[in-house]
Amino acid sequence: MAEKKMVDIYILGKKYTVPSTLTIMDSMEYAGYQLIRSCGCRSGFCGACATVYRVQGQSELKVTLACQSEVEDGMYLTQIPFFPGKKAVYDMDKVEASADTMVENYPEIYKCIGCNACTKGCS
Ligand code: FES
Repeated sequence: MAEKKMVDIYILGKKYTVPSTLTIMDSMEYAGYQLIRSCGCRSGFCGACATVYRVQGQSELKVTLACQSEVEDGMYLTQIPFFPGKKAVYDMDKVEASADTMVENYPEIYKCIGCNACTKGCS
């Protein structure tokens, strides 16, 4: 049985040693982070986990989906601020199931390009 290789990554500047087989998202949870925002389908569809990183010794800024990319040794990670920034708060029993309610709570829906990836990724 192969020994699990560990790598050093940096999340918001703090060093963590994690298994090399984990995705960035899984490594953040392994390190103790509880992902409440910037985490959606975990399948590469919704784009909620967009992440910016650099690898130690390289100047290139890279962008990836945290749920789809495995960690690399010397990875410096930060996440792109989640979208929408405002979390809609409502009582499901008190809102009408209508398009107006949807637009009122999620005005960002007008930025949708209709690719349908979100409904495919999160049934
Ligand atoms: S959580 Fe990564 S793309 Fe949806």
